[in-house]
Amino acid sequence: MSFRPALSTLALACGVFACSGALAQNAPIKVGLMLPATGTFAALGDAIEKGFKLHVQEQGGKLGGREVQYFKVDDESDPAKATDNVNKLIKRDQVDVLVGTVHSGVALAMARAARESNTLMIVPNAGADALTGAQCAPNIFRSSFSNWQPGYAAGVVAAGKGYKRAMSITWNYAAGNEAVKGFTEGFEKGGGKVMKELSLPFPGVEFQALLTEIAAQKPDVVFAFFAGGGAVKFVKDYDAAGLKKAVPLVVSGFVTDGTLEAQGASAQGILSTLHYADNLDTPRNNAFRKAYAISYKQQPDVYAVQGYDAAQMLAAGLNAVKGDIKQREALQAAMAKAVIDSPRGKFSLSPQRNPVQDIYLREVKGVNNETRGVAVKALADPGRGCRL
Ligand code: PHB
Repeated sequence: MSFRPALSTLALACGVFACSGALAQNAPIKVGLMLPATGTFAALGDAIEKGFKLHVQEQGGKLGGREVQYFKVDDESDPAKATDNVNKLIKRDQVDVLVGTVHSGVALAMARAARESNTLMIVPNAGADALTGAQCAPNIFRSSFSNWQPGYAAGVVAAGKGYKRAMSITWNYAAGNEAVKGFTEGFEKGGGKVMKELSLPFPGVEFQALLTEIAAQKPDVVFAFFAGGGAVKFVKDYDAAGLKKAVPLVVSGFVTDGTLEAQGASAQGILSTLHYADNLDTPRNNAFRKAYAISYKQQPDVYAVQGYDAAQMLAAGLNAVKGDIKQREALQAAMAKAVIDSPRGKFSLSPQRNPVQDIYLREVKGVNNETRGVAVKALADPGRGCRL
């Protein structure tokens, strides 16, 4: 039998116009990945993409019954280029969904463009509080955390250890400043006092003068937020300055996540708080880690988990509308009420669309962040300023 009649029927149905209805549903879902491929966060972007693609692979390459087509932009973690970059995906490639990014400042610009064009967006890392706070929107979801969450939990842990005088050190941009704010809230609620906040411009790694100041002040504890390449250098410099033995660190978990092979001995024993730990001994985490290691010949980290869960959130929405992404309200409603079976443990979303999740206390052992229990259970970001 010839395929000719079927093909001409298809051509007639599409005509000179774009295909619609059943035919459009056979077209792939266009996923725009806006992530850093260069700079201090390059490895983080890579892990997010691998995690996202792993979940899609596990669904036979389809979400909601539709093939997935990827469009990619390297955002370089540069907020100045963010609007141009996101418009390549929204206007040029006309993606159905934006997945991105790592850097809070870039994500805020992306979210503005997503709101204005009503493009569905899933944030697989950037913690900017406003994304699910003052700038929240029905089409903006997060699979990761708010900067406040791990910071607040670190403050609770540090106060619980009886420390009274803290200093903080971070990059001076949204993520660092908000993590410090969260830490201060948790720490001061528990009776501590943050004596001094130190910072340097993103993505600088000239830590020496600031470490000298910590050595001079001798606080009981230091809280830090850094990530990626910058975090590797910070942990090594802190150790080399002789501070590791003198002033304990209780840090945001990103300081030691995806970085441990490079940090080596300098990271051993560091305590941190985060919504994931490598050795969570659950069937879900064990299966995820095994599948990731088989696919990519490397171990996953928190960023891989967040990418994987971004795909799970999209799948929950697409399954509810049988792949018809045009049914946006129904799709978003399904995403908003989904319970995500994450390697970190099951989580649901707050009304502002940010994960409500356990924040673990972790300790570095070898190349793993091992859990030492839950620092704060089912922690919800306050979602300040969000009106949905
Ligand atoms: C952020 O900019 O929000 C950010 C970047 C890297 C992290 C965490 C948060 O690891």
